[in-house]
Amino acid sequence: MKHRKRIGILTGGGDCPGLNAAIRAVAKTAINKYDMEIIGFLDGFAGVVENLYQELDYRAVSGILTRGGTILGTSNRADPFNFPVFQNGETQYQDLSDQAVQNFKKLGLSALICIGGDGTMACAHSMAKKGIPVVGVPKTIDNDLWGTDQTFGYDSALTTATEAIDKIHSTAQSHHRVMIVEVMGRYAGWLALGAGIAGGGDIILIPEISYKLDVIIREVKRRNIRGSRFSIIVVGEGAKPDGGDMTVKRVVDGSPDPIRLGGIGHVLGDQIQQATAIETRVTVLGHLLRGGIPTAVDRLLATRFGVAAAHLAAAEKYDNLVVLKGQTISHIPIEDAAGKTRTVPEDHPLLKDARSVGTCLGI
Ligand code: F6P
Repeated sequence: MKHRKRIGILTGGGDCPGLNAAIRAVAKTAINKYDMEIIGFLDGFAGVVENLYQELDYRAVSGILTRGGTILGTSNRADPFNFPVFQNGETQYQDLSDQAVQNFKKLGLSALICIGGDGTMACAHSMAKKGIPVVGVPKTIDNDLWGTDQTFGYDSALTTATEAIDKIHSTAQSHHRVMIVEVMGRYAGWLALGAGIAGGGDIILIPEISYKLDVIIREVKRRNIRGSRFSIIVVGEGAKPDGGDMTVKRVVDGSPDPIRLGGIGHVLGDQIQQATAIETRVTVLGHLLRGGIPTAVDRLLATRFGVAAAHLAAAEKYDNLVVLKGQTISHIPIEDAAGKTRTVPEDHPLLKDARSVGTCLGI
């Protein structure tokens, strides 16, 4: 009797809207088109190391298209090669990648679909080198994964950030204040730039362009003199002053990228209020950007990525990452993307457009 093919799926790293849409697309395609069985590992690679999983039949993935978060759970501290183990009252880090490989084999799986960002792709690539056939699917609100023009999760976060800036606008106008909106995005400015332009920010600060404080202060004063008695500043959490450093909020032991950024909004707020004497308030959008239902754009992209990943697994085209190039879904070797960051290039058209509409970029 011919055995049905079985594949595993996991979601790793920070969550974002669209993860469930991608899980659903992988599972439904694998079931409908290839009569496969699917299991979902819990909490990213932790589920593979600890053999924690659930069967994903048709019923399990029905009705989840619009749901935020991930039904499988996720973790950004579950690297099988540096896995946290709580022993004798303290956390130790051990290489449990062999245990993960054994679990994968015992379950009779033919492929592991890894939905994640650069940290997850780096783990997936290392597991591929140990013989696990992997297929990557790119997600993150930061939109910073190398090799794809867009990740799913970005459009939803962009929409949330833009709506927040719209709301900040009216109160800024009423009180004649400087309002700073800090958005996530790590070392890439896609979210700050996109939401800043869409929300009509007067000053946009991104990690790729080190800002000069005196330029920002001059711009705020200039707007006031001209009669625009408020200013909206959109700042990416990774923005830094010329010759200075990024603002680090905390260091997360055991995470593939342990640095957590955050706090630049408040640093700037104090400096601007002191230099201009204009009341300045700061709103940090933080994890709000990762929540909520996915936009239609993200549902479409997650579905297209998930369908393509299932086709790749069925065709045994392993160690590939599904990507979007222009309007077309294709794939690249995972190792090309693993551990790399796609930042905003200095000649990106959006930067020119922002300048054209009079936005100050801090230099
Ligand atoms: O990568 C997604 C992201 O939300 C970043 O924008 C942010 O810097 C980071 O994750 C926050 O991580 P955590 O959830 O561990 O605080």
